[in-house]
Amino acid sequence: MSELGCIESVLYTEEVIDQKVRELAEIVSEQYKEKAKEGLVLVGILKGSIFFISDLARRLTIPHQLDFMALSSYGSKTVTTGAVRIIMDMRADIYNKHVLIVEDIVDSGYTLQFLQNLLATRKPRSIATCVFLRKPERMKVQVFDETRDFMGFDIPNEWIVGYGLDYDERFRSLPFVGILKREVYEK
Ligand code: PRP
Repeated sequence: MSELGCIESVLYTEEVIDQKVRELAEIVSEQYKEKAKEGLVLVGILKGSIFFISDLARRLTIPHQLDFMALSSYGSKTVTTGAVRIIMDMRADIYNKHVLIVEDIVDSGYTLQFLQNLLATRKPRSIATCVFLRKPERMKVQVFDETRDFMGFDIPNEWIVGYGLDYDERFRSLPFVGILKREVYEK
């Protein structure tokens, strides 16, 4: 089946994504206007965040540094154990700086919980998260603080692909966010 043939429906078009990223960039730029003077590091979590962080960062109007980490969770996609390991650490020294973790999606919340705990040991001035998508029905740990963190959309508990999100490493580069047909992953 072709890539597009595997898509049940489009959840967010390129235009809708672009509009949301602009809104988020404006809010982040405003909230970090003063903090950015003390040093702001955006940390993209690979691979899912690649498009979101590149779009978001280019629309920020405040100075910032870009860095990346790659993580992997144990267990399968549907049954996560909560254990996370570092595949690649970031290069930046975040001591005394402000950190904004940039994620494509929060599902169970275990990855973000692990990251928040790990990065806190490096003594940054602050840690917050900017996540594009959140699946409230799947969350196992409460890692999101509405007063501190930034979020694009709450989404239904479906298999979502595109704009960085994959199924078995496919579909990441689709420019929209789509719902995958069940027959693709229920084989
Ligand atoms: C995805 C996503 C988050 C994590 C969220 O990464 O990018 O990092 O899962 O899931 P959680 O809230 O249940 O921990 P994934 O492990 O699929 O790697 P990828 O970004 O390389 O696709």
